[in-house]
Amino acid sequence: MARRPRTVPARELPPGAVRRAGPWAVGNRDGELFAVSRRCRHQLADLSEGHVDADGCLVCPWHQSRYDVETGEMVQGPRGFLGYHGPAPGYAAFVRSYSKVLRLRVARALRRGDEVVVERRG
Ligand code: FES
Repeated sequence: MARRPRTVPARELPPGAVRRAGPWAVGNRDGELFAVSRRCRHQLADLSEGHVDADGCLVCPWHQSRYDVETGEMVQGPRGFLGYHGPAPGYAAFVRSYSKVLRLRVARALRRGDEVVVERRG
């Protein structure tokens, strides 16, 4: 069975961009490449459709949870849930606390020629 591609053309990853590479969300944080697992710990949105904010965090496209891409930890919880997108302080804190246990997986993203390749750590 063929493996899903774990590469992204380097030209598609300018600073601030995030792209899909198989099960990974690969991004460029101000010139530094990263790779984390793609499914948000809140409601499983595809994080490869998110963006990198001014602080270098990966932001979920659905409810704007923010992730530290070095540790995979959610550093700010969702702003809303299900169809609601307003402030939800208690709920956001609850999601953030269980996300400390269920961090995103983190891999290495390395530039190899014209491609960015994802490699598992360890
Ligand atoms: S699915 Fe990511 S914050 Fe809601």
